[in-house]
Amino acid sequence: MWGGRFAEGPDAIMEAINASIGFDRRLAPQDIAGSRAHAAMLAATGILSYSDAEMIREGLLTVLSEIETGSFAFSTALEDIHMNVEARLTEIIGDPAKRLHTGRSRNDQVATDFRLWVREQCDMAEDALLALMRACLDQAEAGADWVMPGFTHLQTAQPVTWGHHMMAYVEMFGRDLSRLRDARTRMNECPLGAAALAGTSFPIDRQMTAEALGFAAPCANSLDAVSDRDFALEYLAVASISAMHLSRLAEELVIWSSAQFRFVRLSDRWSTGSSIMPQKRNPDAAELLRAKLGRIFGANVALMTVMKGLPLAYSKDMQEDKEQVFDAADNWLLALRAMGGMVADMTANRDALRAAAASGFSTATDLADWLVRALGLPFREAHHVTGALVAMAEAKACDLADLTLADMQDVHDAITEDVFGVLTVDASVASRVSYGGTAPKEVRRQAARWREVLG
Ligand code: ARG
Repeated sequence: MWGGRFAEGPDAIMEAINASIGFDRRLAPQDIAGSRAHAAMLAATGILSYSDAEMIREGLLTVLSEIETGSFAFSTALEDIHMNVEARLTEIIGDPAKRLHTGRSRNDQVATDFRLWVREQCDMAEDALLALMRACLDQAEAGADWVMPGFTHLQTAQPVTWGHHMMAYVEMFGRDLSRLRDARTRMNECPLGAAALAGTSFPIDRQMTAEALGFAAPCANSLDAVSDRDFALEYLAVASISAMHLSRLAEELVIWSSAQFRFVRLSDRWSTGSSIMPQKRNPDAAELLRAKLGRIFGANVALMTVMKGLPLAYSKDMQEDKEQVFDAADNWLLALRAMGGMVADMTANRDALRAAAASGFSTATDLADWLVRALGLPFREAHHVTGALVAMAEAKACDLADLTLADMQDVHDAITEDVFGVLTVDASVASRVSYGGTAPKEVRRQAARWREVLG
């Protein structure tokens, strides 16, 4: 394709380091879509005859079906998907194929193909993210008033509701969704027609190709169009933050499904057994996605590193963008779908959640708040009195609610029988009615808002 000024072919190692066909063959459908749009535009602007354009169109469809059915012979000598497709098109239709690359370069071609590919990934990730959000929302609605321990430092902090905990993930995934949509909107500009870097002297219509490929507009600056990989980086950044959220939930599922916690039971479909220990139900999907998601962070750093030292415009370094994004995208989608399946199928153990909620003096803050409200103690003093009561309960190996009124009055003589009203976990969560709080009523309000968004 470029041998005109060369006397010798490339060294075998040169060919190996230069070729991208081993991975960029994944861009074949996008490459062919781009070429079809380009050819149609060349005909509409009179740069190409309609009969040539028609032969190109039909030839490209044949190439596509050869690739889809697996009969296409990819060649490393032809470097990449763009040259592989064009060479095969030339074999099939002859001379008209040689006119296809008019007013175009592989630089704008690859930038276009890759944007189309990443944009499609955004749409697939959006669907998977929405399914996961609905699964979390279903869980939240079912258990809006199921009490469980809320943790800080993984130590029992205050009772919360299962619905509240699930809705926290809906919020996180909702931000991921909004970031994903923002990224998709920003990437939706078409590099095609930027040519090698400077634009072209042919009277091309960039508006037309942009529109044909579903882009909102052509990229405004041809140098930027071929140099820019922000769209891939932003996608990886969005995926990284989402991966971090997924990994936190995965970690919770691993902890919660243990015999020590028993907060959830993962379904058989989402558990594995042990080859030696017959009793085991392992949360392998949660563990694997927790581990795999690191690859997305890696891809993000790798591509930032590829890009950071590149002068404008195109450098071959940029060929290293694809494998990272492909791997990250595959694993992100897999993780989103696995998490969606696990959450949809899991059963929360209401009794275990309740029993755990009551242990660890989880209503100590309620007691302190009561001392402030009922007795008018300053909060710091109430904190101190409650601390003494917790120490007393700990010494007696009982819960706060099991102390007698006399015990309590030994610590502070103004305490009355009313205090017992705030020591239950149900009273505790019911009282947390502040906006965004854990009260079942408030959780149901949060859930209803999201139900309207998610359907
Ligand atoms: N395979 C190349 C890539 O992925 C296509 C662009 C090549 N352009 C060039 N001038 N060598 O980036």
